[in-house]
Amino acid sequence: MHAHPVGKIGVVGAGLIGRAWAMLFAQAGWRVDIFDASTAALDVCMQEIATMLEDLHGAGLLREAQENILARIQPAATLAQACRDAVLVQENIRETVAAKIEIFAQMDALAAPDTILASSTSWIPASSFTEHLAGRARCLVAHPANPPYLIPLVEVSPAPWTSDAVAQATMALYAQIGQEPVLVRKEIQGFLLNRIQGAVLNEMLNLYEQGYASTVDLDKVMKFGLGLRWSFMGPFETIDLNAPEGIADYAGRYGHTYAAVSRTQAPNSWNPDVISKIEQERREQLPQDALQRRARWRDNRLMALRRHQKDQPT
Ligand SMILES: NC(=O)c1ccc[n+]([C@@H]2O[C@H](COP(=O)([O-])OP(=O)(O)OC[C@H]3O[C@@H](n4cnc5c(N)ncnc54)[C@H](O)[C@@H]3O)[C@@H](O)[C@H]2O)c1
Repeated sequence: MHAHPVGKIGVVGAGLIGRAWAMLFAQAGWRVDIFDASTAALDVCMQEIATMLEDLHGAGLLREAQENILARIQPAATLAQACRDAVLVQENIRETVAAKIEIFAQMDALAAPDTILASSTSWIPASSFTEHLAGRARCLVAHPANPPYLIPLVEVSPAPWTSDAVAQATMALYAQIGQEPVLVRKEIQGFLLNRIQGAVLNEMLNLYEQGYASTVDLDKVMKFGLGLRWSFMGPFETIDLNAPEGIADYAGRYGHTYAAVSRTQAPNSWNPDVISKIEQERREQLPQDALQRRARWRDNRLMALRRHQKDQPT
């Protein structure tokens, strides 16, 4: 832990993701200036950060007094202030190509030439909103999972023109604040996490739509089956251990069956009629007005899991 701030990070957009980034950087010793187009959003953000810190403290996940961490985060009156002297500016505004083009043009004009400009976008490759910028070599995507202070993955996805030095420095910076960066070697819509999540959801929707199981039982397959292992090792490592001689042995035994099954796995169109049936089943399990309470419960479970993972490094 740094006794003194090590430098400054700019955060743009103070919603769900922006405020989580602000807290993560501050927790690692960085000063943070956070800007939002709405001053009301900035007020909510500062209150929410205090609540997140309280929860993390309660879960034993903070190594420093909450007040010290909070004191490093300043609301910025302008975008220019957020960008000034920043080592990196993390952008977290709304998810449209037009909005990203506009904000990146402003950030590129305002930030010093060696400031890294990173977007939290979930789906949009950096080349869609940085192509015409003078400073496009210092721009890239750094996509977190939600909530980023409990799920440490960050997908670093450079555009074809992002410099290797910027990509490497960005990876090192996220590692320094305790996140787990992965490099997306070539641009692709949805990066890695959402594509993999999409593949699982695609199959779950197909199995439900074709009448093979209920939503509750399909969720149980993950919760009491696959998800248990997958919370500490990935599917490649899982199958490497599921045959005596490792992954090639596994593929020799079961590869042809997986390949045959994959030929029956059609794309799902997310049919609104099917979604409304799933909605009905979900609301029987969890009424609408209990969604927020359950999300807080989820975060508490994640905190316990993170504490366990930190005690048992992989
Ligand atoms: N919510 C998630 O699960 C999640 C996960 C990973 C990444 N992301 C990505 O993070 C980004 C932000 O998502 P979110 O869920 O935090 O959204 P959000 O709606 O909670 O917050 C967006 C904030 O941006 C502000 N804003 C809008 N335009 C602005 C501008 N021009 N300048 C400054 N501030 C502006 C809004 O006032 C709002 O406070 C999106 O690109 C999203 O795809 C979201």
